[in-house]
Amino acid sequence: MEKIIIEGGKKIEGEVTVSGAKNAVLPLMAACILAEGKSTLRNVPDLADVRTMAKLLQILGAEVEFENGVMTIDSSNMNNWVAPYDLVKTMRASVLVLGPLTARFGRARVSLPGGCAIGERPIDQHLKGLEILGSEIEIEEGYIETNAPKLKGGIIPFDVSTVTGTENLILSSVLAEGETMLLNAACEPEVTDLALALNEMGADITGFGTDIITIKGVGKLSPLVDYEVMPDRIEAGTYMIASVITKGDLFIRNCRFENMGALIGKLIEIGAHIKREDGGLRVSSNGEIRSTDITTLPYPGFPTDMQAQMMTLMSTADGLSVLTETIFPQRFLHAGELRRMGADIKLVGNSAVVRGVQGLSGAPTMASDLRASASLVLAGLGATGRTEISRVYHLDRGYDKLDEKLEILGARIWREKE
Ligand code: EPU
Repeated sequence: MEKIIIEGGKKIEGEVTVSGAKNAVLPLMAACILAEGKSTLRNVPDLADVRTMAKLLQILGAEVEFENGVMTIDSSNMNNWVAPYDLVKTMRASVLVLGPLTARFGRARVSLPGGCAIGERPIDQHLKGLEILGSEIEIEEGYIETNAPKLKGGIIPFDVSTVTGTENLILSSVLAEGETMLLNAACEPEVTDLALALNEMGADITGFGTDIITIKGVGKLSPLVDYEVMPDRIEAGTYMIASVITKGDLFIRNCRFENMGALIGKLIEIGAHIKREDGGLRVSSNGEIRSTDITTLPYPGFPTDMQAQMMTLMSTADGLSVLTETIFPQRFLHAGELRRMGADIKLVGNSAVVRGVQGLSGAPTMASDLRASASLVLAGLGATGRTEISRVYHLDRGYDKLDEKLEILGARIWREKE
């Protein structure tokens, strides 16, 4: 195992290019199950979760190659519909194969994901949707078993807005007989990226980007030709905060500002300077960081995946901030680690009350999940002294070479064996 060491206090400056989005590429890879033949994805980030999904597709019988950001998936000879516990337990997004396997084989056996560090994460909406489309569902020996010789369109009203739930039901219904309507569907840009790709494969999906998505079933899909994965808005947001917390000046290339309104609005409100330039965004700060309140919400609200990083920033703000988490009410494991670096944070129900302090000081810390690790890296960059972050594998699940990119931008950051 490795840990990351940071000697804080260096400005983050220069130019960084954002990689493809983790939460877009995983459903896109699952989509490749639906069309026999060889699909190609570009701008694929080099992440542990991407490799886990690749391994899962290989277990299912697909041929997967991945080099220099280009992934090919040949699903012609897929012959297996069982997603084993050993893989699903390491990545919840594995459940995204449930819909496509059921659509392609008329059945699937996918391990139920277990507990999660960021809170309870049921998948009842995925299962309810599949039942509406005509699948039988049983839970046996920790596995979800679907059985549906032919899925049929239907109206699926989600009780909560769910990103992978919406994606799973789009993936289930593109080849179903008749029309499917998803009500209270997730509007996240990653859902749009999936719908655009499926339409390129021959699907008939409309309404994506809104909370009513209509899918008219088609007989067959063709493989995906050269689809470029959208940029990662959470990676981009993490670099934005790296610049602000270090009084830096950073140009962030390949970043779609139109997908990041809630974060950009908050950063401007707290005193950061943000300018749109050709090909990306410039983010700088003169060190002034005002406090603000934040509530995480489904898109286009403030993303839960930026809550931990924002908590780090608010820890050094001038004044009191309240961060309220409505998506994963217990997603606050990073608060205890930030306190070890001098932050003043009190948890009250699903809110964190953060009283800004003069500065954070480096300390040994432990990452508990992906975004919590990012919040500790940001804290380390802004702190005085040396910060150690162990269990860094969490970071590698979702950030493409974060430490290498930050080093190029001026950070003193490196890895050591634990
Ligand atoms: N929910 C249910 N039932 C369901 C599904 C969800 O009650 O069947 C609840 C969840 O418990 C949660 C809320 O609905 O309270 C939203 O969960 P959602 O299903 O949208 O989350 P997800 O699809 O499992 C994706 C991202 C997460 C991101 C959330 C919220 C992927 C692969 N993962 O998860 O990303 O936090 O949406 O935006 O797309 C991350 O990248 O660090 C990460 C955790």
